[in-house]
Amino acid sequence: MAKKIVHRIYELRSILREIRAAQKTIGFVPTMGYLHEGHLSLIRQAGKDCDFVVISIFVNPLQFGAGEDYAEYPRALSRDAKLAFANGCDLIFAPTVKEMYPQGFATFVEVERLSEHLCGASRPGHFRGVTTVVTKLFNLVEPDHAYFGQKDAQQAFIIKRMVADLNFDITIHILPTVRETDGLAMSSRNTYLNQKERQAAPVLYRSLCAAKEKITQGERDAASLIAYITKLIKQEPLADIDYVNIVDLENLQPCKKISGKALIAVAVRFGSTRLIDNIIVEV
Ligand code: PAF
Repeated sequence: MAKKIVHRIYELRSILREIRAAQKTIGFVPTMGYLHEGHLSLIRQAGKDCDFVVISIFVNPLQFGAGEDYAEYPRALSRDAKLAFANGCDLIFAPTVKEMYPQGFATFVEVERLSEHLCGASRPGHFRGVTTVVTKLFNLVEPDHAYFGQKDAQQAFIIKRMVADLNFDITIHILPTVRETDGLAMSSRNTYLNQKERQAAPVLYRSLCAAKEKITQGERDAASLIAYITKLIKQEPLADIDYVNIVDLENLQPCKKISGKALIAVAVRFGSTRLIDNIIVEV
């Protein structure tokens, strides 16, 4: 079957009906477009695991708060299509907002508890928007496997919880964060950074790595580690911290002492651009 972009739900469903009838497995990578190497690594992995790879490109208004960057979010469908098809994607689903949320739309999916901290606290309603759109996309694509990046660690945890709680028959794969050579986590939002902000932004990963080193040396106290990371990030004058936090990997609740596995996560603004990054540590 020729590689294709479809915009309508009925087209997507009719193609996927044939794929399933041919007993092919379906891999799915949901995205908001402006693809970078992080997305492409997910598409390539889906291609290795599955017979047919679908990606969605949809800037989901439901997950943006008032005053956030919904209008500015970069959109470049033909550029994205070239990259996706060259990396093993077979079908792109790029719906309009009206196709996804027709008039009268009134149903939302919310995962409790896991949204209380980190980005959930700074961006009220964000994860409700994510889980609602991902539920719809899962129902439309009905993939066997779906792929997400570790960079959006809280999103990945929440989606895994939702898949378990709602009995989606989908295997979720979380792939490592892909980084620029200076350590900056790849993100479509990196394109907003001016030259000075771009030079400053690698402080996030540097600080996370420095914290990991402290843990290797024996530090276990979360408050001390948070203070250490905060101090390192503040050395960069352009960095404006939203949060630095350390949470457990069960419920994403703040921990006092690091024991077992923990997620160290940061969100920092450079000008009007909000970047996130994280690492998982284990002692
Ligand atoms: O990670 C993203 O790009 C988005 O949150 C997702 C999962 C595509 C839902 O809109």
